[in-house]
Amino acid sequence: MIPNVDEKYAEIYERAGPYLDTRHNDLHVRIAYGFALRLLEEYREADEAVVLPAVILHDTGWKTIPEDQHLKAFGPKMTDPDLRRVHEVEGARIANEILTAVGYDAARREEIVAIIDGHDSRETAMSLNDKVVKDADKLWRFSRTAMEIDHRRFGYELREYFGWLERQIDDWFFTPEATRMARESFTEARAALIG
Ligand SMILES: [Fe+2]
Ligand SMILES: [Fe+2]
Repeated sequence: MIPNVDEKYAEIYERAGPYLDTRHNDLHVRIAYGFALRLLEEYREADEAVVLPAVILHDTGWKTIPEDQHLKAFGPKMTDPDLRRVHEVEGARIANEILTAVGYDAARREEIVAIIDGHDSRETAMSLNDKVVKDADKLWRFSRTAMEIDHRRFGYELREYFGWLERQIDDWFFTPEATRMARESFTEARAALIG
């Protein structure tokens, strides 16, 4: 499930490209974008023009952190929340630059930047748009692609990783539809990977 980014956001995606070339973020963003489209179908009051650019830009900040530091800053063995925070702050800065450069609507730009600024560390959601972005970001973990990448990079056997991931489903999501999608995607991916 790797959708094409809508023409309306193609320039933002193109400008984000050089920043996404780390941590498999190119794949992460495209898969999260697909989940965001599905959530937007369910939650029609959410603003696509905030949600989709926020998903595209949310992890651009990782590019400013050396790759050998990444595993301290995300995943089940994260030990350095300050470093995780750096990717949010830097991502908010980069998003602001890109959205300004393309002449994006100022009110939406500010909302997108605020969402990105707390997309991992802020444990509450500020709005429905924020919920959809947070949920699409985490739903990626339940894609087959992410499971294959993540169990290796986090140092788990596949079965062990599935066990850990399944226990997170009820805690991670803000919207009921995302919880349902996570369960569905998890079940499919587990069947494909371990039968
Ligand atoms: Fe992130
Ligand atoms: Fe992310």
